[in-house]
Amino acid sequence: MLHRPTNKVNKNSLVSLLNPASPVSEVYKTLRTNIHFSSIDSPLKVIMMTSAVKGEGKTTTVCNLAVAYAQEGKKVLLIDCDLRAPAVHQLFSQSNRTGLTNILANQNQWQEVIRDTPIDTLSLLTSGPIPPNPAELLGSSRMQALIEELRQHYDVILLDVPPVLAVTDSLVVSALCDSVVMVVVAGKVDKELVKKTKASLEHVNARLIGVVFNRINRRERKAAFSYY
Ligand SMILES: Nc1ncnc2c1ncn2[C@@H]1O[C@H](COP(=O)(O)OP(=O)(O)OP(=O)(O)O)[C@@H](O)[C@H]1O
Ligand SMILES: [Mg+2]
Repeated sequence: MLHRPTNKVNKNSLVSLLNPASPVSEVYKTLRTNIHFSSIDSPLKVIMMTSAVKGEGKTTTVCNLAVAYAQEGKKVLLIDCDLRAPAVHQLFSQSNRTGLTNILANQNQWQEVIRDTPIDTLSLLTSGPIPPNPAELLGSSRMQALIEELRQHYDVILLDVPPVLAVTDSLVVSALCDSVVMVVVAGKVDKELVKKTKASLEHVNARLIGVVFNRINRRERKAAFSYY
């Protein structure tokens, strides 16, 4: 049988939930702490995780970070703003029948489509049905109003988005965020692409607070966080 390489998120990727005491889970807690220390005076509430190209580990990182924040007792909402290849629901084994796009299409109130997780203080807003016009929906005034309202109800809001160089979606969403963290597979993704991504984010005045170096290698599962 032919085994094709797959980029599909593996449910074991949610190590922070499955094995909170493991060394890998500790790395996500360190990431949480480093984000906290990156802005002591004005705590960051809405944080977006992005990357230059696909498959660098955005979804894996943001989901584990969400668990790490919730384990600290924070009231957390994780929103899947990747309306092209949504995957957050897969990691949490949830349905994606309704979600963000239903709210943006005026079909549901946010309270109706937010989902619980095994962790009391962590809620999910999955993408919902894939729309024909993701960038338009994400850049809508309805999306802006939604994030503003959700800010009143949660301590931390984490957003998963598509890669920067593929489509404009993440640049559009960055305008709604207090900060942006970039995931980079060190040594595998061309430095020029990383620089171009940083420049694109800066061009739209996104607040890039740091980089997670993610090694997608079974023997060296680790993620580190560094500042510019
Ligand atoms: N630190 C890691 N160690 C091992 N495997 C990882 C790590 N981070 C991500 N992966 C694996 O790499 C693959 C891609 O990860 P993920 O889906 O999180 O990337 P992504 O940036 O969200 O991709 P996309 O751009 O397609 O949304 C998945 O199979 C995931 O399980
Ligand atoms: Mg993803």
